[in-house]
Amino acid sequence: MAIQISPSILSADFAHLADEAAAVSPNADWLHVDVMDNHFVPNLTLGLPIVESLYKAADTPLDCHLMIEDPDSWAPGYAEAGAGSVTIHAKAANAPVRTLREIRKQGARAGLALNPAEPVEPYADLVGEMDMLLLMTVEPGFGGQKFLDVVLPKIRRAREILDSRESSVWLQVDGGVSDETIERAAEAGADVFVAGSAVYGAQDPAGAIDALRAQAVKAGGRG
Ligand code: DX5
Ligand code: ZN
Repeated sequence: MAIQISPSILSADFAHLADEAAAVSPNADWLHVDVMDNHFVPNLTLGLPIVESLYKAADTPLDCHLMIEDPDSWAPGYAEAGAGSVTIHAKAANAPVRTLREIRKQGARAGLALNPAEPVEPYADLVGEMDMLLLMTVEPGFGGQKFLDVVLPKIRRAREILDSRESSVWLQVDGGVSDETIERAAEAGADVFVAGSAVYGAQDPAGAIDALRAQAVKAGGRG
């Protein structure tokens, strides 16, 4: 499994989203789109109409991270809108298995996300229902927070669960990923890295992606 970088447009200029997407498109594997509803998290960002427009405007596949209540109702719509990957939060979903299946049925990759304090073990048997497991390395809601090292042992345990099942499920980390933290996360076994402020806060966002990727490949050896 190759290392992948998914820059988060939460740290981009929302008035120029098409340009911001273009600035990273040759270098990024995905464009991470943080959907927040001010209920599941205390912040409000964007929804389906913007994802529909971004899908038409961006060359990079969209990695939609739904930090919303009732993802069971909403998630399939993001897949229909063209997202290449749709991730729901386990604790927000009433019927995660059904919803992950619906996402796949609509042609997208299905992701399941866990907050820092949520254990991974209860979801081990659901590995076959998902294409990506997202372990939050900050409490969700805002960009620019500090990477939580307390999540590192869980990343290792998740990697063991996946490897012991010979699973090809991707292991994504999101929050506080930077040149100072990406090596620890890669060593622990993550292979997909969301980076908001570390990419869009850089002078050269495309160069920042390449540098992060090189660090992760070196540390994780999964490239
Ligand atoms: C936080 C979001 C993240 C955020 C990451 O809740 O899910 O995707 O954009 O931003 P940084 O990389 O700045 O921590
Ligand atoms: Zn996110």
